[in-house]
Amino acid sequence: MATQPAEKRLSHKKIERNVTLLGALALFTVAIGGIVEIAPLFWIDNTIEKVEGMRPYTPLELAGRNIYMREGCYTCHSQMIRPFRDEVERYGHYSLAAESMYDHPFQWGSKRTGPDLARVGGRYSDEWHKAHLVDPRSVVPESIMPPYAFLAERDLEAGNMANDLTALYRVGVPYTKADIERANDDIRAQADPEAGAGDLQQRYPKAQVRDFDGDPARVTEMDALIAYLQMLGTLVDVERAAPQERAGETEAGR
Ligand code: HEC
Repeated sequence: MATQPAEKRLSHKKIERNVTLLGALALFTVAIGGIVEIAPLFWIDNTIEKVEGMRPYTPLELAGRNIYMREGCYTCHSQMIRPFRDEVERYGHYSLAAESMYDHPFQWGSKRTGPDLARVGGRYSDEWHKAHLVDPRSVVPESIMPPYAFLAERDLEAGNMANDLTALYRVGVPYTKADIERANDDIRAQADPEAGAGDLQQRYPKAQVRDFDGDPARVTEMDALIAYLQMLGTLVDVERAAPQERAGETEAGR
């Protein structure tokens, strides 16, 4: 201490005795750490690693997703498989960040009264989904899921899907001008094989074109919801994008 000049000791004394000054300087010092962490996020475009196969929802899938949210399916179902052995064995490969990069809002969640649905696409037939949604107990006797039979009766009144696509485009989902212009026609093109799919499958690779609810004469809410369920987790070849150890090779198996 004796080596420090007298005026330096004085200024330090000043800071320690003035609570406002001490507070302001402490805040400034802590803020440097915060800025270093947060500021880069404003300049990098994306924190998510892109994977092959990911594409925006088709208008029919998106209409189904809107119904999924309207009916509150997310209050019982999550869409995120965690990288734990029990989850991976039950639901399949853990979810990749890129798989929900076009989800607004995302459907991750941790509340699971029912199973995770992130990879339910293709696991059951359309008929199974319809029977299950009309009366869950008809296919899973112990189920406590509520019935949604009315979805099969209601015509899909998606409104102007161009608005939905435009809103998503504005928050960064890469819909093209053609996608937005043809949004309403694309609904029929996907749900009604007679209508001719046109270039739907070029613009939305792996889009499943068929009548989903067993009632080809109409496009119902059931069509849209099943189209959505059947595409969940089917776009990305996850084993190629992020190879994971097989069950027998994980820690417990070694
Ligand atoms: C009150 C909670 C609850 C709500 C709300 C709910 N579910 Fe379920 N769901 C369950 C339960 C429990 C199961 C497991 C038993 C069964 O298969 O019915 C299940 C199973 C499922 C399955 C089969 C999953 C699998 O891997 O076997 C699908 C698909 C599904 N629900 C879709 C939906 C959709 C779509 C909605 C909204 C329209 C919805 N659920 C709303 C509780 C719920």
